[in-house]
Amino acid sequence: MPPQSMKGERVFITGGAGFIGSRLVQALAALNADITIFDNLLQQVHGPSPVIDLPGRMIVGDIRDAAALAGALGECRPTIVVHLAAETGTGQSADEPVRYVDVNVGGTARLIEALKQLKDAPSRVVLAATRAVYGEGAYLDNAGRTTVPLPRQPSEMARGVFDLYDKEGNLLTPIPTPEHVPPAPGSVYGSSKLMQEYLLQQVAAPWQAVILRLQNVYGPGQSLRNPYTGVLSIFCQQALAGRTLNIFEDGNIHRDFVFVDDVVAAFVAACHEPGALGRTINIGTGERTSIHDAAILILRSLGLPTERLAISGEYRAGDIRHAVADITLARALLKWTPNTSFSRGIAQLSAWSMRETT
Ligand SMILES: NC(=O)c1ccc[n+]([C@@H]2O[C@H](COP(=O)([O-])OP(=O)(O)OC[C@H]3O[C@@H](n4cnc5c(N)ncnc54)[C@H](O)[C@@H]3O)[C@@H](O)[C@H]2O)c1
Repeated sequence: MPPQSMKGERVFITGGAGFIGSRLVQALAALNADITIFDNLLQQVHGPSPVIDLPGRMIVGDIRDAAALAGALGECRPTIVVHLAAETGTGQSADEPVRYVDVNVGGTARLIEALKQLKDAPSRVVLAATRAVYGEGAYLDNAGRTTVPLPRQPSEMARGVFDLYDKEGNLLTPIPTPEHVPPAPGSVYGSSKLMQEYLLQQVAAPWQAVILRLQNVYGPGQSLRNPYTGVLSIFCQQALAGRTLNIFEDGNIHRDFVFVDDVVAAFVAACHEPGALGRTINIGTGERTSIHDAAILILRSLGLPTERLAISGEYRAGDIRHAVADITLARALLKWTPNTSFSRGIAQLSAWSMRETT
């Protein structure tokens, strides 16, 4: 159940001007929480001259800047911290590992040290983590045993072999991934996000962490100009520009697409549910959709011909074949359930994308 009010809570939100952050800020403001946003308004996400119109205190600063963080935290004196600021492009992280590690790992370490300097520590730190820490995630082998396969090899993908097989060559069957499978990230992004989790869990601190491993979040407000993240936003932007949608591999990549407002509701629950303290929790829908089907739905809802896509066989090293979350824990600990159907969510994303591009 969502709280009636968060009056009296001072919430410090890194990355609060971003896609998920800006909607979370509005949800928390509606509950009368006192909000401080700390965000460097990264140009790749926000463009060259962003106009940010959000409730609360906006502090433009970089998570890598320890002095700026200390100043902002001293002003806010947070009771709750939500850490969203991050570099988020899986593909880009392979080309720019230093930037990704600096921001995602170094930034989190600096945030933790700055929090430890506070006279009164917050009660909880909620991390926007990712399903990318699972790599390929959970599968069943021929004998019905759960296994987590190693990341796919580019040499195999180059031969058009996209699915996952066991050592004997038997096809593995994807299943919803629960939180307890061992992490096996297949990208620099995933590794840097896993390190954020470890930092929050391994540091001696007076607060408790809540780690939300998000699946693919989509919806209105996701940057249409950032080419490195948000496949559905990228599809909308490309389709509206008259381009043919390039469907990678054989089109049978699957994702668990979860609507942004459902994710925001999970963050609100993570800020107040006692059962969430110290826990790592998947946030998704528990349902999977192929990229091919998602592209068709987007074209339809934009009123465009569904022939405007091409299955190219192209692939990206570090991409995951199938992703779907086991959300049993989220239902139990956050008393949360996703309630936006994929078609309803896509209709909202398409309508927003059309408004933004006209
Ligand atoms: N969107 C998804 O599908 C998804 C999935 C899994 C996890 N996540 C995680 O959720 C969080 C938010 O993602 P989002 O989709 O809202 O991304 P986003 O890019 O829209 O928002 C990130 C925000 O962080 C800010 N930022 C980036 N670098 C910064 C820095 N050095 N200092 C201060 N601020 C900085 C950006 O300006 C931006 O406003 C990220 O941590 C991401 O890893 C997102």
